[in-house]
Amino acid sequence: QILILDFGSQFTQLIARRVRELNVYCEIHPYNNLPPITPAIKGIILSGSPCSVRDADAPTVHLAAFRHKLPVLGVCYGAQLLAQTSGGEVKPSSIREYGRARINHIETGNRLMQGLDLNSQVWMSHGDTITSLPTDFDVIASTETVRVAAFQAQGEETYGIQFHPEVTHTTQGKQLLKNFVVDICGCSQDWTAESFVDTTVATLKEQLGNDNVVLGLSGGVDSSVAAMLIHRAIGANLYCVFVDNGLLRKDEFEGVLESYKTMGLNVKGVDAKDQFYHALAGLSDPEAKRKAIGKTFIDVFDQEAHRIENVAWLGQGTIYPDVIESVSVKGPSATIKSHHNVGGLPDFMKLKVVEPLNTLFKDEVRLVGRTLGLPNHILGRHPFPGPGLAIRILGDVTPEKVAILQQVDALFIDGLRREGLYDQVWQAGAMLLPVQSVGVMGDERTYERVVALRAVTSVDGMTADWAHLPYTFLADISNEIINKVKGVNRVVYDISSKPPATIEWE
Ligand code: XMP
Repeated sequence: QILILDFGSQFTQLIARRVRELNVYCEIHPYNNLPPITPAIKGIILSGSPCSVRDADAPTVHLAAFRHKLPVLGVCYGAQLLAQTSGGEVKPSSIREYGRARINHIETGNRLMQGLDLNSQVWMSHGDTITSLPTDFDVIASTETVRVAAFQAQGEETYGIQFHPEVTHTTQGKQLLKNFVVDICGCSQDWTAESFVDTTVATLKEQLGNDNVVLGLSGGVDSSVAAMLIHRAIGANLYCVFVDNGLLRKDEFEGVLESYKTMGLNVKGVDAKDQFYHALAGLSDPEAKRKAIGKTFIDVFDQEAHRIENVAWLGQGTIYPDVIESVSVKGPSATIKSHHNVGGLPDFMKLKVVEPLNTLFKDEVRLVGRTLGLPNHILGRHPFPGPGLAIRILGDVTPEKVAILQQVDALFIDGLRREGLYDQVWQAGAMLLPVQSVGVMGDERTYERVVALRAVTSVDGMTADWAHLPYTFLADISNEIINKVKGVNRVVYDISSKPPATIEWE
């Protein structure tokens, strides 16, 4: 495997993704918590950073722990750190070096630069630049403005690159990473969804033995794939709980419960609608609503878990980005919204936690799900928030409002599917607004609710743009909603991107 040391760059996760795309397993660790350098580690990548190596408190790492022993690739800050600590010089760039540049010199025969073309586009993003290299380092690539675009330390497999091979705008970045990971480090490209399933199931068998595990299913991809994996390892000792919180999409509870049963999972559906509606009664503040839902979920789940005898483990569908966030080198970021399913369940449950997906990215979870035979309608579904429709009903939540929103949402989602648009957007849904507007139907004045439709394109939900759905589609859906859903007389379409807006309205 490859070890990526994170110095806080916004691109660190991308490095990991690119390495995984080469079917090579890798892990990200913070620079200040170096894991033991075991023989399984074949090479090390030092990430970029928002810091400058010239800062007094610049993040650094004990390079001697691995340099000269393993191949090392420094990217941007990582490269500057390698150069500076060996006697080179790093200074602020005199000209801005952000965005595209072209390689105009490549050292022929250099292993890292194999297969890269002169004039190839690379992506730069740095305020500092290496002005002089240590005497025993050689330049192996340059651009017009950056002489030291890449270097190698003589007699070692230690390399640095000033540009970012992990971003897609560096057109041959993947080739460069392949040169490092496969040719220089000697990693075999055998990390696939199938191999992941085999090794994970074997590990789970060993870890769980004859113990019982309880797992909360949400209907989403992550918890479903986690359940399938654990089920493959321990069969009927896995007890799944699927809670109807009364905030799911129309007919979703029954449909998804049926699919889970067809998949062979031992799953208990729990109707807790009233408990959730009761907890939400009178609450209109978004955070108060989220907290009430989170707490009710824990109560219901805890009650169910206690009904299972000898349960020792709690299964969770935590994925790698959640883990990286929690060990991130950046300080805790401001709480924009409290996601109730991050942070786990309280201590009083006293269960050990098993999280078989905690090394995978979302797209890898999907691949594993496909390998395990998860049906397409679960694999390909849009993300749906844990607090469900409650955070799409602005203001207080009542069963009547939920029923209206479920109808609107179902028409919108069915329409997207019918027109082949569902898979083109990352997420879609409808919001019930706390306003009424005047309309006219026949000769009658109406004074009814307004709904907002929201569809976004995104890669990871961190940033998003509003989906440019065809006007004809929006026109048809608006008509259909107003004609079919009693109590709604106006439909608007949300054209805000994230940031500055968020995907959900609450
Ligand atoms: P925002 O609204 O923060 O949403 O732009 C980003 C993504 O996260 C989902 N989301 C949640 N998911 N529990 C979840 O499981 C939550 O509390 C929650 N809040 C937002 C949202 O649907 C979008 O996919």
